[in-house]
Amino acid sequence: MEPSELDNINDTNYSSPQREKWCGHIILYKFQGFWFTETYLETTKKVLETFKPLPGDVILASFPKTGTTWLKAILHSIIHHSRQHENHPLTLNHPQDLVPSLETNLYVENGPELDGGNENPEFLAVEDLQEARILATHIPYQILGDILNSTDCKVVYVTRNPKDTVVSLWHFLQKSSDVEKDQWAVEAAVDQFCRGVVPFGPYYDHVLAYRQESLNRPEKVYFLTYEELKQKSKDHVRKLGEFLGFPFDESEKGEEKIDEIVKMCSFESLSSQQVNKSDDNPSVFPLPYSSFFRKGEVGDYKNYLEDEMIAKIDAVTEEKFHACGFMY
Ligand code: A3P
Repeated sequence: MEPSELDNINDTNYSSPQREKWCGHIILYKFQGFWFTETYLETTKKVLETFKPLPGDVILASFPKTGTTWLKAILHSIIHHSRQHENHPLTLNHPQDLVPSLETNLYVENGPELDGGNENPEFLAVEDLQEARILATHIPYQILGDILNSTDCKVVYVTRNPKDTVVSLWHFLQKSSDVEKDQWAVEAAVDQFCRGVVPFGPYYDHVLAYRQESLNRPEKVYFLTYEELKQKSKDHVRKLGEFLGFPFDESEKGEEKIDEIVKMCSFESLSSQQVNKSDDNPSVFPLPYSSFFRKGEVGDYKNYLEDEMIAKIDAVTEEKFHACGFMY
């Protein structure tokens, strides 16, 4: 259904199966089993109509708030062999700009400007990106899978435990100028998250489809969790290098490079870069650059979720993930 057709549905019908209010007043639309804001529905459809990955592309896929920004920094550093020095790309650019997102930055009406401040600006398009292209997306595998499989591009998927994900999302939205403060209680966020009503959700279906594809085709999809990346950062950077075709030397120099990437991409390092503290807004969503860095911890949900909310999420996690042998 076109968004314009959805617009014709009377607002009082928002709880019908096709649309539901989220985060206070934002209306989410259901499309092919997943929920989208109107803007993301439009941009996702544009991606589906026109995006054709190149064989050398790296697609970073994730559900929102699961570590996308961190992985953007890591993948860019691995592929562009960035070393720690004054003009490191990560000291000059926000990771969101180094690795644009298909539906958030590229297939939008007016994406990032190429020629800053010109009266008739030209906007960044996917064709303008240099190889090896690294592109990010939150579009579920169930919807984007055929496109991803149309060429030999590689997919890296990061996920995160559902409780930290929902808490991170809840905080993130509090920073949006679209959202009136205190309009969205954390209980409501948890309830909708558990019912799958969240942009690009259901979260569980999102994770399981990419995970299944990584089990079926490990040479195509690299699946990792935020928590493992925290614990074993070096191992993952090394394995990602191999997976992407940019392996590190087995020598001391290779180890040094890995150490440098881990350090440069750490929460402490990235969140202290001036460019990442800015109040500018990198995407179609009204959120500042700084909002992509909050705490960067595992288990922060304990500071925000009551026992009943934890039990509610755990019950869905058991039903959806544990039943498939995915333990969180
Ligand atoms: P918190 O809100 O729990 O702090 P995404 O990039 O997918 O939007 O995810 C954002 C989450 O990742 C936020 O979590 C953010 O603080 C955290 N994050 C951002 N950069 C990070 C990094 N370099 N290392 C660890 N966590 C990071």
